[in-house]
Amino acid sequence: MTCKKDYLKKLLQPIAFPGGRALPSRILPGPMEGIMTKEFCQAMLEFDLLPAWITPFIRISRGTPRAKKLDGRLTPFRPLPIIAQIMGTYREHLAATTKILSGFDGVVGVELNCACSSNTVIRSGAGSSQLREPEWIRDTLLKMRESSAGGGIGVKIRSGFESPEELPRILEAVSAARPDWIVLHYRTGREMFRNVPDGHERLRTARRLLPDTFLFGTGDLFSAEQALEMVRETSVDGITPARGLMHNPWLIRDIEAACRGETPPERDVTPFLLRLIELVSVNPKGRHGLILEITRNIWGRESERFKALASDTRPSAMVKIISSANFEHRTSNVQY
Ligand SMILES: Cc1cc2nc3c(=O)[nH]c(=O)nc-3n(C[C@H](O)[C@H](O)[C@H](O)COP(=O)(O)O)c2cc1C
Repeated sequence: MTCKKDYLKKLLQPIAFPGGRALPSRILPGPMEGIMTKEFCQAMLEFDLLPAWITPFIRISRGTPRAKKLDGRLTPFRPLPIIAQIMGTYREHLAATTKILSGFDGVVGVELNCACSSNTVIRSGAGSSQLREPEWIRDTLLKMRESSAGGGIGVKIRSGFESPEELPRILEAVSAARPDWIVLHYRTGREMFRNVPDGHERLRTARRLLPDTFLFGTGDLFSAEQALEMVRETSVDGITPARGLMHNPWLIRDIEAACRGETPPERDVTPFLLRLIELVSVNPKGRHGLILEITRNIWGRESERFKALASDTRPSAMVKIISSANFEHRTSNVQY
């Protein structure tokens, strides 16, 4: 794969935030609540698979969590630079939490989640349901900035709650708060994870309306080819692949290689899964369903391999099934 294009090399450059803090590059893992457990993070760190983290959301409700508790939430992500993501409806607690998080070593920024579309979150008025009131997002970002001890303030949004036609109004309000970045998941809240044919078109709209705001694109990045295609077609400044990391935990490293014009090597997910099983099995509080959730994503619910794993979830049985399979994740030699 050859890609000596400057716009791709730029993805490998740092992003500077207020207060001298910075992210090392612009290809970051999309947060995944429930998947990015302590064990998943440890395995990703041990295999050296990413440059920094955006954490899954920390839910803020009627109170401001204590500093010790918040620090504990960040422990699995250390020692890499961290964008801490928060979600909630109480502006004063979101701002007070921003103050605490931004004061921690290693936190380069705080991000407000206005993108989550789970039914529980929407019912509570948080996540993507806040896209129905973009001025609330604007005012909350301003308060977060006011309270911040330094570093960046960003927001994750979708292209609308009901319809992508809401996007211009959302962007107008959100950009008035001058966030350091916006992450745009191109689906609407209602679309949840359904396929949308015009995802890149929606990102292009955002790019056109906000030429000077740092824009991360997210949605269906499962290979280096898809990542480079998104950047080429939409001119986003950065990307945050999420579910693709379950299919190929090396995905970020592969995209980085493709941006340098190198061909990513073939990958075999087996050693990663075996280490994950080991880490989960030695932790009495480990989430055993994690391995099933990841393998379901890789091989599909109907695959013989997944069915075999689901029928016997003892670690020793899972190790046997996974070791007996030889699955490689190939990246094609498409020219860029
Ligand atoms: C299991 C799961 C949990 C997620 N949790 C979060 C989260 O906590 N915060 C967030 O901003 N996005 C979350 N997302 C959304 C992803 O970060 C990403 O934006 C979305 O999945 C689209 O990217 P993809 O198609 O590459 O997965 C989650 C997605 C999944 C599948």
